[in-house]
Amino acid sequence: MTNRPKLVVANRKMHGNLPDNQQFMQSLLQQTRHHRARYAVCPPHPYLYQAQQVLQNSHIAWGGQNMSRHEKGAYTGSVSPLMLKEFGCTYVIIGHSERRQRGHDNDESCGERFEAALKAGLTPILCIGETLDEYEQGETDLVVVRQLNPVIAHVGIQALSKGVIAYEPVWAIGTGKAATPQHAQAILSFIRGHIELLDVQVAEEISLLYGGSMNPGNAAQLLSMPDVDGGLIGGAALVAEDFIRICQIANELTPLKSAA
Ligand code: PGA
Repeated sequence: MTNRPKLVVANRKMHGNLPDNQQFMQSLLQQTRHHRARYAVCPPHPYLYQAQQVLQNSHIAWGGQNMSRHEKGAYTGSVSPLMLKEFGCTYVIIGHSERRQRGHDNDESCGERFEAALKAGLTPILCIGETLDEYEQGETDLVVVRQLNPVIAHVGIQALSKGVIAYEPVWAIGTGKAATPQHAQAILSFIRGHIELLDVQVAEEISLLYGGSMNPGNAAQLLSMPDVDGGLIGGAALVAEDFIRICQIANELTPLKSAA
């Protein structure tokens, strides 16, 4: 049995406001004290200061939903890795399909962002996953390798282990139609196997998440899968009770002697 702790990340997308965020984070803080699993909240960028105020010195981390590959410069509307770091972020989501689909991110630029995040001392959460069309064509394995390889080529296999990979089938995101636990397990096991070909230890240590309509009703089955080390949660991270329930399930499934 693995000793990887479960990691549950709230991707709050473009939702929330000051009072709602406050309530969400306060409830999460109070109701997950003494948990072994790891948690993070990724609010929209303007609220990172609020996250820092509420969550600092607690067991809950926070992070950005995207960042520039550049440290500074004439990039109107962008946020740099150093800025995320300055506001205490631990994590940053890279290559979410909602950004890839609108042409903001691609496989190559994800490699550059992954590298820039590590350089700034952030833990990148790299999102990969196939569209419905690719799924129906049976191309899932091909797609995840196509998305992963440029990042590995860019940073090297050792550096990959300093990040997190989230497998998020596009057809499952925000649709209420989560992948079956068997599908999530099969793909995450395939991804771990692909990494294992390059480095056995990295494959053993790296956290692989599932994302796409995970909710309190299906989290136990999904998170019980041996290669599902946690979840990236969108819709179910909008209501504190739902997210906290998923955290409780993840905590119960985290080995007592998990790696810190
Ligand atoms: P969802 O979103 O849980 O609403 O499907 C997940 C994500 O987009 O990260």
